[in-house]
Amino acid sequence: MNTVLVTGGTGYIGSHTAVELINEGYRVLIADNLSNSEPEVIDGIEKITGVRPGFEQLDICDGPLLKEYMDKNSDIAAIIHFAASKAVGESVEKPLKYYRNNLVSLLNLLEEMQQRSLSNLVFSSSCTVYGQPDKLPVTESAPVKKAGSPYGNTKKIAEDIIEDSIMSNPSLKSISLRYFNPIGAHPSALIGELPRGVPDNLVPFITQTAAGLRSELKVFGDDYNTPDGSCIRDYLHVTDLARAHVVAIKRLLGNRNKKNYEVFNLGTGKGISVLEMIKTFERVNSLKINYTITGRRAGDTEQVWADTTLANNELGWKAESSLEETLVSAWKWEQYYRKNN
Ligand code: NAD
Ligand code: UD1
Repeated sequence: MNTVLVTGGTGYIGSHTAVELINEGYRVLIADNLSNSEPEVIDGIEKITGVRPGFEQLDICDGPLLKEYMDKNSDIAAIIHFAASKAVGESVEKPLKYYRNNLVSLLNLLEEMQQRSLSNLVFSSSCTVYGQPDKLPVTESAPVKKAGSPYGNTKKIAEDIIEDSIMSNPSLKSISLRYFNPIGAHPSALIGELPRGVPDNLVPFITQTAAGLRSELKVFGDDYNTPDGSCIRDYLHVTDLARAHVVAIKRLLGNRNKKNYEVFNLGTGKGISVLEMIKTFERVNSLKINYTITGRRAGDTEQVWADTTLANNELGWKAESSLEETLVSAWKWEQYYRKNN
C-alpha cells in the first residue's frame, strides 16, 4: 500500500482527493495548517471511506517542522501539493502573503524531496495561467500569459520552479494539473466547499443565496462578447477533479509518465455562461435565485474553457458528471452543512 502525502488535504479539493485515494487503496497522510479548513473534514472523509487518514496540523512553510514530519513519515511515496492561499482579491491586497505562502511551501517540499530522493509530485495549478487565451478551447501548449493577480502569478512561478528543479534533478518527476473551475461536492454531502466569509466564487454564492444567507447574487457583467453577454467558464465536478489526481499518482508511481515534467488541463471541455449556470441551478433544484446584473468584476477573464484532449488520451481521464448532477450536489451540500452547523 503506497503512502501519499496530501498537503492542504482538509481543504476543498484535497479532501475530495483524499477520499478517492483511500477508495483506490492508498494510505493517505494529510498535512494542513487549517488556515482555510476545519479539522472536522477528517471525520467526513472517515465516514465516507471507513478509513481515517493520518492528520497533522502543520504549516508547510515551517521548514524545520516539515523536516521533522518527513523524518517521521519516511514511507511517503508521493506528494500532492494542494496547500496554498487561493483568494484572488486578497492576493491583490496582500501580495507578499501569497508569494510567501504559495512559494515557500513549495520550495520547502522540493528541498525535502531532493534530500530524500523522493521522486513524485503532483501540483495544483490553475487555468488562470492562460489569462484570456487567443484560441478556445485552450490547449496546454497555449502561451502562459502575464497573470491577472499575485495569486495567479504564484501558480505560474510555481510551475517554473518545479520545471527548473527537474532539470537539475532528473530523479524528480512532477505533474502539474491546471484546474478549470471545480464546483459541487461529494454526493454524500459529508464534505464540500467551505468558503470563509462572503464567497468570491460563483457557485458558493449561488447556494448561499438560495439558502437565504445572501440577499442577492450579482452577475458581474452582461456586456461581454459572449452569446448572452455573461462570462464563460469550464465548471467541473470536484469528484471528477479528485479522480484525476489518483490517475496522476498512478502514472508517476508506475513510471508511465512520458516526460519528467508534464502538464494537463482538467476541465469538461465545455464553456458555460454565468446566466446559464443560474438557470441550470434553478431548474435542477426547483428554486429561484434572486440576482441582478451589475458591472464587470476587475480582472475577470471573458471566456475560457479547456481542450481536454491531452488528459483524455494520456491520462485516460474524462470529467464524467453532468452539470446538472454537479449543481444538485452543490445544493445538497449547502443544505446539509447549514442543517448541521
Ligand atoms: P482550500 O483553501 O479549500 O484548500 C487549501 C488548504 O491548504 C486549506 O485547507 C488550507 O488550510 C491549507 N493551507 C494553506 N496554506 C498552508 C500551509 N502553508 N501549510 C499547510 N496547509 C496550508 O483550496 P482548494 O480550493 O481546495 O484549492 C486547493 C489547491 O488548488 C490550491 O493550491 C489552489 O490554489 C488550487 N486551485 C484551486 C481552484 C479552485 O477553484 N478551488 C482552482 C485552481 C487551482
Ligand atoms: C477565480 C480566479 C481563479 C481561481 C478561481 C478559484 C479570478 C480572475 N480568477 O476564477 O484564478 O483559480 O477563482 O478560486 O478571480 N461571478 C458572478 N458573481 C459572483 C461570483 C462570480 O457573476 O458573485 C462570475 C464571475 O464574473 C466569473 C464566473 O462567475 O465570470 C466564475 O467566477 P469564480 O467562481 O469567481 O471563478 P473564476 O473567476 O473563473
